[in-house]
Amino acid sequence: MKIIIFILFLLNFFSSAYADSKMELGLEVYKSKAMCGTCHILKAAESSGDIGPNLDQLKPSLNQIIYVVTNGIGVMQSWEGILTKEEIEAVAYYVFNVTNE
Ligand code: HEC
Repeated sequence: MKIIIFILFLLNFFSSAYADSKMELGLEVYKSKAMCGTCHILKAAESSGDIGPNLDQLKPSLNQIIYVVTNGIGVMQSWEGILTKEEIEAVAYYVFNVTNE
């Protein structure tokens, strides 16, 4: 029994460490690499752009964010080939988590 608890503890520890680095990468992409904040309001990232929808209010789903960042929508460009797949997933993960708490 003790060993099972220990394994669960380890799994929990590693998955949260992994999640945190994904959040960090996502924030970096949001703020620097793609500068989503020039067009979007997102309180957690202290951005106040008003060209696109307010992400705090929109509360987009994870798949919706991955889809629009990859393919673009309206005046928002596609980031395919500019951001890596990992970066697109991280920024989506970040925006999803801070807007759906
Ligand atoms: C040049 C300004 C601009 C930048 C930079 C930008 N967006 Fe957008 N975004 C928009 C506009 C405008 C829309 C609304 C487009 C429409 O509905 O026609 C939009 C829509 C969205 C939507 C909602 C899509 C939907 O299904 O309605 C999400 C989510 C989103 N953007 C996330 C992001 C993320 C994440 C980034 C950074 C990788 C980003 N945007 C960068 C302008 C921008």
